[in-house]
Amino acid sequence: MSETTVGTESPQVAAVPHPLDEAAIAAAVERALDAIAAAANLEELKAARIAHTGEKSPLSLANREIGKLDKADKAAAGKLIGPARGRLNKALASRTEELEAERDAQILVEEAVDVTAAPRRRRAGARHPLSVLQERVSDIFVGMGWEIAEGPEVESEWFNFDALNFKPDHPAREMQDTFFVEPPEAHLLMRTHTSPVQVRSMLERDLPVYVLCPGKVFRTDELDATHTPVFHQFEGLAIDKGLSMADLRGTLEHFARQMFGAEASIRLRPNFFPFTEPSAELDIWHPGAKGGPQWIEWGGCGMVHPNVLRAAGIDPEVYSGFAFGMGIERTLMFRNEVGDMHDLIEGDVRFSEHFGMEI
Ligand code: PHE
Repeated sequence: MSETTVGTESPQVAAVPHPLDEAAIAAAVERALDAIAAAANLEELKAARIAHTGEKSPLSLANREIGKLDKADKAAAGKLIGPARGRLNKALASRTEELEAERDAQILVEEAVDVTAAPRRRRAGARHPLSVLQERVSDIFVGMGWEIAEGPEVESEWFNFDALNFKPDHPAREMQDTFFVEPPEAHLLMRTHTSPVQVRSMLERDLPVYVLCPGKVFRTDELDATHTPVFHQFEGLAIDKGLSMADLRGTLEHFARQMFGAEASIRLRPNFFPFTEPSAELDIWHPGAKGGPQWIEWGGCGMVHPNVLRAAGIDPEVYSGFAFGMGIERTLMFRNEVGDMHDLIEGDVRFSEHFGMEI
């Protein structure tokens, strides 16, 4: 026997056969074939390959012993061990093929895609109808050549009231319940309407001015079915030479028809605002109203008061202008039959979704 000892890989792999011991070699081959056949998966087959054909396997080690033999014995031993190794390689190749086929079949089953299964989709969400309506209103005025103007939500009392001709003791100042911002001496508040943007636009822009100012406004109302302390308005302002109430009427009528259809029309009723003179309440004839065609209060409007023009440094003898303001929530409620303000502010995507992309 050779001095080479048994490999340590596996107890079944037994001793190294003498390269001329035909029976021992045949036994090693049998053990190897059994191990190959018994391998239940590619992992196990790999272990069997290393144990029985690897560098330290009995047959490889016996093969190394051949070098030590006489010339004649070398040839005889080669004829024993060579074909033995050849049989094992063949057996390994065919078992590998079988196990790979099994593995692939298994993968096909495990990773099968059920094309009939309902897909797991990420919800796309929806734009809020208030945003969509605000953009629609803006588009109508941009289509007439107007510009969009914006102003701050935390506003100075001067822009919100004084410049708009609300006298310090004017009862109209109490008409709107205001969130004032601390400290009182800063004279800041949450704007109660979008009208301060009128004054800002006149101060910031070159004449003539044609602007639409959409935005958030704040009043100390409790949230209920028709009120919310934070809501949206859009303000229109036109300052030019020779503008009259007829221009206001024509503009609003065009706007009303774009929003409510060709049969829509408008009605102006006398009213009072400190910053317009004359002032009017604007009603819309809504042909598609829920309870049948009817007049609905829509907003306020009027000719810009000369004091407001003066506060913005504009000569009322040369320029005149008109202004109007409407609530976006209110418009959406009667235009799209939204019965409850809560639906508008809760942000439930299912509410937004049914308005679609175009309203
Ligand atoms: N700012 C007024 C309001 O909030 C609406 C209005 C705007 C009236 C412009 C006249 C002109 O009620």
